[in-house]
Amino acid sequence: MTIAEIQQEILRMKKEQDICILAHAYQGQEILEVADYTGDSYGLSVQASKRDCSGVIMCGVRFMAETCKILSPKKRVWLANPVAGCPMAEQLDLEGLRELKAQYPDYAVVAYINTTSELKTECDVCVTSSSAVEICKKLEQDKILFIPDPNLGHYVAEKLPEKTFAFYKGGCPRHIVVSAKDVEKARATHPDALFLVHPECRQEVVEQADYVGSTTGIMEFAKKSEHKEFIIGTENSIVEHLQFECPDKKFYPVAVQLTCMNMKVTTLMDIYNCLKGQGGEEIFLPENIMEGAGRCIHRMVELGG
Ligand code: 13P
Ligand code: SF4
Repeated sequence: MTIAEIQQEILRMKKEQDICILAHAYQGQEILEVADYTGDSYGLSVQASKRDCSGVIMCGVRFMAETCKILSPKKRVWLANPVAGCPMAEQLDLEGLRELKAQYPDYAVVAYINTTSELKTECDVCVTSSSAVEICKKLEQDKILFIPDPNLGHYVAEKLPEKTFAFYKGGCPRHIVVSAKDVEKARATHPDALFLVHPECRQEVVEQADYVGSTTGIMEFAKKSEHKEFIIGTENSIVEHLQFECPDKKFYPVAVQLTCMNMKVTTLMDIYNCLKGQGGEEIFLPENIMEGAGRCIHRMVELGG
């Protein structure tokens, strides 16, 4: 079968089975073309609960499929490729979290959505890169333990000087590869370009940005801007997608090695096989996790919406 034939078959089967396909924007173009919604982690969470369908196939990483299941307990939810996990989400386990909480007993625990559902059961609220500042600002507590990404945490802390923050030493193994030197080099090569960056990048990189935002934030900014050239400081598929959507503008990656292989494991055939009942992994979570992580995720939707 050709790619177009596989896509046609996917569209036919998902309609027949009343299934929605949600795809994170880091997925390949051929996957975005069959998706009902594409966007960042926050957008995916909201769409998961809004969509009127009996099942959802998540093309992204495991924590996204789990979040989707928690927000839509009555729907069947599949992770298109069961090995797609986010390494940052695995950096802190419950035991480690309990030790941290013992060190910061009177702090509110704010978890980046890139964490396991198990971990979320013992956190106060979770946030995405697009909602972190707003949610931390709205919290009644002035002391915040931000886990696991200290880069996003520092970005939030700078915006909220009235609050006190403590951090964990995790972080996205992909975004942290970008250095201040990479930015200087890219700026020297493309002096007219604006630099748009994701807050998972290191502080020295974020400090040099013309715009800081989530995946969707970066894409919207570039599409709406009068500017014609952009250096992109996030996963390199965003460079491709923007170039595809805005052929009159130019987009450059800040570093060639900024590719998330975990997001890239999902293929069109994974979706096809999932719809055929021969692939993917249906998400089932124990009741205590549905409840505990649900409290944390619902609070995010309440405060961030
Ligand atoms: P957003 O899509 O929420 O910007 O986060 C990026 C990311 O790392 C996804 O795991
Ligand atoms: Fe996880 Fe980083 Fe990949 Fe996002 S880019 S899924 S945070 S490893």
